Amino acid sequence: MACRGVLWAFVVSTCLGSSVAQKVTQPQQEMSVQEKETATLACTYDTSESNYYLFWYKQPPSGEMIFIIRQEAFKQQNATDHRFSVNFQKATKNFSLRISDCQLEDAAVYFCAL
Ligand SMILES: *[C@@H]1O[C@H](CO)[C@@H](O)[C@H](O)[C@H]1NC(C)=O
Ligand SMILES: *[C@@H]1O[C@H](CO)[C@@H](O)[C@H](O)[C@H]1NC(C)=O
Repeated sequence: MACRGVLWAFVVSTCLGSSVAQKVTQPQQEMSVQEKETATLACTYDTSESNYYLFWYKQPPSGEMIFIIRQEAFKQQNATDHRFSVNFQKATKNFSLRISDCQLEDAAVYFCAL
């Protein structure tokens, strides 16, 4: 199959927390998504804090780290920004990223950070 029109999202784990009690887990290794479709990137985390921020970043092949979206733990709404939105479940500590209407420019490594 030709790669044209296919999004390659390489997902790896990271932890930008200062406390050892904090960690994030991203189960997917790699996924490909057709253009215009919606991609969901899973992330679960663990922290003993009650007040915290969660972030998604992406690193395209050019190498720079690009901030996508931020969620405040106390916010009662899921953060959204254009084609990006999160499904934040504080009780189960899930913080997945949804990318709607996928574009070729979305091909990147995605980092979930606490
Ligand atoms: C985010 O959206 C999901 C699905 O609609 C919902 O279950 C969840 O409670 C929402 N989270 C927040 C913080 O509003
Ligand atoms: C939270 O993430 C875990 C691991 O990815 C998954 O098994 C579980 O179904 C998710 N729960 C919700 C409420 O999305």
